[in-house]
Amino acid sequence: MCGIFAYINHLVPRKRREVLEFILNALHRMEYRGYDSAGLAVDSGPDSTTAQDTIAIIKAPGKVKVLEQEVRDNAKLFDDLIFENHCGIGHTRWATHGPPSAVNSHPHRSDTENEFVVVHNGIITNYKDLKKYLEGHGFVFESETDTETIPKLIKHLYDIHPNMSFRELVEEAIQQIDGAFALAIKSKHFPGECVATRRGSPLLVGIKSREHLTTDYIPVMYGDAKQQTPSPPTKKRNGMQGDGLEGRDSLTEFRPPSERSQVEYFFASDAAAIVEHTNRVLYLEDDDVAYVTCEGGLSIHRIKRDLDNNEPSSREITTLRLELQQIMKGNFDYFMQKEIFEQTESVFNTMRGRVFYDESRVVLGGIKYFLPEIRRCRRLLLIACGTSYHSAVATRQLLEELTELPVTIELASDFLDRATPIFRDDVCMFISQSGETADTLNALRYCKKRGALIMGITNTVGSSISRESACGIHINAGPEIGVASTKAYTSQFISLVLFGLVMSEDRMSFVERRKEIIEGLRRLPDDIAQVLKLDSKVAALAQELYQQRSLLVMGRGFNFSTCLEGALKIKELTYMHSEGILAGELKHGPLALVDKGLPIVMVVTRDKTFSKCMNAVHEVKAREGRPIIIGEVDDKETQSYAYRFLEVPHTVDCLQGILTVIPLQLLSFHIAVMRGCNVDCPRNLAKSVTVE
Ligand code: F6R
Repeated sequence: MCGIFAYINHLVPRKRREVLEFILNALHRMEYRGYDSAGLAVDSGPDSTTAQDTIAIIKAPGKVKVLEQEVRDNAKLFDDLIFENHCGIGHTRWATHGPPSAVNSHPHRSDTENEFVVVHNGIITNYKDLKKYLEGHGFVFESETDTETIPKLIKHLYDIHPNMSFRELVEEAIQQIDGAFALAIKSKHFPGECVATRRGSPLLVGIKSREHLTTDYIPVMYGDAKQQTPSPPTKKRNGMQGDGLEGRDSLTEFRPPSERSQVEYFFASDAAAIVEHTNRVLYLEDDDVAYVTCEGGLSIHRIKRDLDNNEPSSREITTLRLELQQIMKGNFDYFMQKEIFEQTESVFNTMRGRVFYDESRVVLGGIKYFLPEIRRCRRLLLIACGTSYHSAVATRQLLEELTELPVTIELASDFLDRATPIFRDDVCMFISQSGETADTLNALRYCKKRGALIMGITNTVGSSISRESACGIHINAGPEIGVASTKAYTSQFISLVLFGLVMSEDRMSFVERRKEIIEGLRRLPDDIAQVLKLDSKVAALAQELYQQRSLLVMGRGFNFSTCLEGALKIKELTYMHSEGILAGELKHGPLALVDKGLPIVMVVTRDKTFSKCMNAVHEVKAREGRPIIIGEVDDKETQSYAYRFLEVPHTVDCLQGILTVIPLQLLSFHIAVMRGCNVDCPRNLAKSVTVE
């Protein structure tokens, strides 16, 4: 949902073409966040007539490669001019206000002189009022976006307060802005400087210094002078990132080690944009204003300190655990394809160091101190969107069984619309691959306010959901770049199963059940490898189906989530109509759709719902339907009813959904390729949905 990036070099001589390459590369890495249009801004050098520094902006509708071509063709800009101090910014867009076009692309500017230029991820909800106000003061808007109000507001403040620093101007501006934002701002009045800030949208800072960094923390400076003195960082008991990272206590303001120190800073929506430059990062909190000065210092400011909430008074510089190869395609043609095939490893990584097979024991470090509180709770609520929600559907039944607690599953957006009652003794679990989904994050804040215990289940270390949770489970699936979620789903699924196992560890009545599940988990990577061998068979099936208009996916019990998730994959990747149907509901309506022409995938495995699923197969066959059955290896009886049969290994009932979903991931992938759809970046979608 838009990616923003800024690169600032201080005393590191960089050719302008290098700066442009850095920005373009970062935008490519964040393209999954939005791919409607892209743009960037760099210094164009002193203007030949006025001798003043100017800013060049290049923007283009379409994917980053269109912008890249335009930049490379611009010989005046893509050159060897060297800058010792410079700030460049870039953006890749997922349109919210105004259709994709060059003029609606970012960066947006204050005026035709490009005095202030801004890249933005989020939505400014009071932009209409701001626009009216600014138009009243003579500003002329050129785009249809909400973002354009920001540079114009800053310029307006600059005209009123010409002596304010760049940082103070931005601080003033964000006090007037409602909504969600991550911003990086560049100005011709403050060359070599950059201000970045966030509220509700993610933003991190990367630091690369040729010399050893002398601090692990950057103190926060408060607008209120009485609160300036930074206190040592408090040891955090809360927060998913608290697993062993806390407790270092060096504390000096971050400045380059000497006046001649070479240092580079990066602001980015996602660590993938900076991983090849540095692994030293800090995550900004909502309302932090980060300021890189032309002296090369980095400071973090807040308007005032919230003493009531024991707000941490510094930001920790942490070490990224992301490798460049993890965000490359390797030998695959598409990220999604790579991620489907990675599932043998990603599920293993989710369990690594947590499942002790021989002792039938599971340890989850991120929740262990909270277990007594969790076990005492009134109910468990699993709250998420899209695929992440499907992982809640997949595991609800098992959690009910193993915890003997009421388990409610909620779509985050609906949950907020209903203003659902939440109590202090509820445990609210927020499942999110990105950890940034606005609906899920807002639901989290809603539950937090009401005193519930907040647990995050995310794939992104340092994400808002992981930081705002009291405790949680990192699913450790590794970066997921394909917009359609695949490996994150199976790892979320397993994380929730592990949670159920931890919750039931002291119950004698579950000893055998737990053993059976843990044994199933042990075999899972091999079982997945077996399923992946279906690839060519699934490709052949895709060949038969790719010109169809619609596809139903039906099942029940532990496999119902496979139907919802499979249908979502088909929809988002192939643009075909697809519906996941609970087999028990067939006769209550969907049966009317069935004839010999409509393709129906039916998931039928040998669990407690088998005979009921077979009833549905008979009902379909009686209407000349031709079921494509995902069933178990060697289940000849079921196979005999199938028009086409995709066989997966048998595993424990509650894990079977991990194996049955993979053929549907493969099917949607192959159909998308055959239909000429963009597999990694389906139309109109973005990976991280940071607007409501
Ligand atoms: C579908 C998909 C989306 C996400 C949803 C929630 O393939 O990826 O449905 O699952 O937008 O995103 P996260 O998990 O990042 O909160």
